[in-house]
Amino acid sequence: MKDDILKVLISEEQLAEKVQALGRQISEDYRGKNLLMVSVLKGSVVFMADLMRAVTIPAGIDFMSVSSYGSGTKTSGNVKIIKDLDIALEGYDLLIVEDILDSGMTLSFLIDVLWQRNPKSIRICTLLDKPERRAADVQADYSGFHVPDEFVVGYGLDYAERYRNLPFVGILKPQVYQAESK
Ligand code: IMP
Ligand code: MG
Repeated sequence: MKDDILKVLISEEQLAEKVQALGRQISEDYRGKNLLMVSVLKGSVVFMADLMRAVTIPAGIDFMSVSSYGSGTKTSGNVKIIKDLDIALEGYDLLIVEDILDSGMTLSFLIDVLWQRNPKSIRICTLLDKPERRAADVQADYSGFHVPDEFVVGYGLDYAERYRNLPFVGILKPQVYQAESK
């Protein structure tokens, strides 16, 4: 699996340090609020598992799954809810936990849908941000790392459902996805 990686972009140590810092900040900002962390499956599951343990105030968690990508590397702009939340959102201060903010199409759709359910507030926490690629008007309130416009995998992020279990974030060798799209 590691042979398919061009280079490690963010190491395990860097990830751990950043997650602790984000957890500290979130714990401060949400003190006295009704925090509900919403993880967007499946990419954010590793980040969520680490981030929730770095949060030191009471917090609920829930999961939803949307698809916009199929198995390729470019967004289709076509967002569909595959699995919805279990918890009704009224009265909650939502923190959407995302793996990566790319075009922003996925989050922009999600935020519209979730606002209709009357939460008290909605904020976004993304581990990775590719600001150059933004097509929708979405900004992260908490963001871990800016990454270049290259396809990255690991720490939850996949290419065609693989590489999610790499403990670091790396750049995939282009020949890996070029070979498969032929
Ligand atoms: P957006 O709608 O274009 O912002 O795409 C967001 C989703 O696309 C993320 O939640 C990821 O699942 C996926 N994605 C975007 N860029 C990458 C990448 O470089 N590697 C892996 N998945 C990505
Ligand atoms: Mg994904």
